[in-house]
Amino acid sequence: MSEILKRDKLIKQWIKEAAESIESAKVDSLKVEEKSARNDLVTNMDKKIEEELSRKIRAEFPEDRICGEEGYGDDLKDLKGTVWFVDPIDGTLNFVLQQENFAVMIGVYEEGIGVQGYIYDVVKDNLYSAIKGQGIFCNDQQMKAPKNKSLSEGLIATNSQLMTQDKYSDYRKIADQSMGVRMLGSAGLEVIELLKGNVIAYMASKLSPWYIAAGKVMVEEVGFKVSQFDGSSIDLLNKNKTIFSTGKAFDEIVTVNSK
Ligand code: IPD
Ligand code: CA
Repeated sequence: MSEILKRDKLIKQWIKEAAESIESAKVDSLKVEEKSARNDLVTNMDKKIEEELSRKIRAEFPEDRICGEEGYGDDLKDLKGTVWFVDPIDGTLNFVLQQENFAVMIGVYEEGIGVQGYIYDVVKDNLYSAIKGQGIFCNDQQMKAPKNKSLSEGLIATNSQLMTQDKYSDYRKIADQSMGVRMLGSAGLEVIELLKGNVIAYMASKLSPWYIAAGKVMVEEVGFKVSQFDGSSIDLLNKNKTIFSTGKAFDEIVTVNSK
């Protein structure tokens, strides 16, 4: 079995195991802590899932390195070799307040190139996945590639910061040229909306590598674009102001951003 297929099988199994733990958690007994702000939360479940995923990855693939949100990964200075990007719960605020609209995400990169992406919508039991060159899948069923729509033809998704902070006022110009704005609160699930054709772009300020990695593989797999706001390449060692978009909307968004 190739390394990619071995990983594919194990990742799908590990993600389902993680989801079982998450679903068994009682909301009232979660230990919830604030990180950088009152609305930037982490729970004991985020930590437990990342710790377990990291342990499993290291046991099966000792040479590989891990970049994870909750600190169980490695301190990466480069993207050499095989790197796993792990977000144990993307949408922790939703997990705590809504008990839905959150995902487990894993992206695998070889020498800086995305080769595998996995986004699991835990409550809906939908596991979205892609292996580079093989298309995008939901629960192992191939998904149709979404239409390449322009900005004026569709809805645009975003994160809270872009809506609330004046320094991103250009974003409002872009939103105004679209059909309207939608916001889910989970970067991974916003990317899934793009892949389903429900939105034409997702724009978010300051996304860390683990929010971007899995979705980037999937979005590029359908020929869409992922970049920083000014059109420059994503840097998976740092935070990025990130656009995931159809090809047509991408050119329009970058034009507004660079004015
Ligand atoms: C958050 C979500 C949210 C995005 C934030 C992230 P987390 O992830 O993806 O949509 O706007 O920037 O922090 O913290 O719940 O893993
Ligand atoms: Ca997270």
